[in-house]
Amino acid sequence: EPVHKEINTADWDVDAAEKGGYEHFMLKEIHEQPAAVRDTVSPRIINGMPDLSQDGVDMQKLKDYRQIFIVACGTAMHAGMVGKYVIEKLARKPVIVDIASEFRYRDPIITKDDLMIVISQSGETADTMAVLRLAKEVGAATLAVVNVVGSSIAREADMVIYTHAGPEISVASTKAYMVQISVMYLLAFELAYANGTMELTAQLGQMPDIIRETLELKDTCSFVASKLVNAESLLYIGRGLDYALSMEGSLKLKEISYIHSESYAAGELKHGTISLITEGMPVIAVATQKKLIEKTVSNIREVKARGAMVILICDNSIEVGEGVADYIIRLPQTDEQLMPMAAAAPLQLIAYYTSVLKGNDVDKPRNLAKSVTVE
Ligand code: G6P
Repeated sequence: EPVHKEINTADWDVDAAEKGGYEHFMLKEIHEQPAAVRDTVSPRIINGMPDLSQDGVDMQKLKDYRQIFIVACGTAMHAGMVGKYVIEKLARKPVIVDIASEFRYRDPIITKDDLMIVISQSGETADTMAVLRLAKEVGAATLAVVNVVGSSIAREADMVIYTHAGPEISVASTKAYMVQISVMYLLAFELAYANGTMELTAQLGQMPDIIRETLELKDTCSFVASKLVNAESLLYIGRGLDYALSMEGSLKLKEISYIHSESYAAGELKHGTISLITEGMPVIAVATQKKLIEKTVSNIREVKARGAMVILICDNSIEVGEGVADYIIRLPQTDEQLMPMAAAAPLQLIAYYTSVLKGNDVDKPRNLAKSVTVE
């Protein structure tokens, strides 16, 4: 019997699968982020407003769901963490974020009145796929944020928002993360439109330029990497959105440099982790949220007093006292809600240069796979 196959066309070109003069795919992909964000965001801002209707997303319906779940694995889950902070803050909707391999086995309380958002670069991750099916079984609405056109997750979800990062070849995800968080912002801004997110939407449209500026920090990031390369272990700390971002910074570093690293909510340090601080241990502190800055600085002082070597990542308007940090990376200014997009590339570059200095196989780190299709 003849079988009718649906044809999906990916508009990825051959250049996208070549290094184009960069030493590694990862470095190339880090530099592709301004364009990836532009391609993902610009078509979805119409008359100054976020607009996901062309993706088949009915915003009115989205607003009515009882509860939003965001479930994913690895870097995609970290993008979901950013989504949780901004959706809750701006749209005042409760969001639960979870790791797919945990969510699916914990008999989750999800009903037909809920919305399940799954995020996946490849659209093929087995645990994320299983969560999507579980959500569909209980009748929940499903929305997938996916990079690969026609992938399994994209085909099975009720709604799909495609990110336009093009093919990501390096195992360590960079540009896919950046566009995933861009979509989280689009969703949050549209959900919260009545609360006045027009300016934020305009700022989101400017983010490709801001990200481009942050790429100019590469020499500083490479210098910082030279300070990390001999460390046995290090910590990333932050609060709020900075914590969400620290998780990704830390994952990037451990994936490709093989240095043990953890991200910690800065305020939680004193409940145990601070005992790990010894003379010279690097601590990367991300502090871009004005309301929280004083609190984070006081945590920085605590680790500094115990001998930590502190690398502070903050925006260029923040004044920090003498001796608070050993090294400071100053980010260009943007609205603080959007600071994860400004801080992501420097964190990726720190991980990248540390891996290069260690002589590791940057694009194909040991024991890792780009797409995890087994459980
Ligand atoms: C693997 C990759 C990670 C990725 C995760 C989820 O572990 O190495 O970079 O974040 O899978 O992949 P997905 O394709 O679902 O985003």
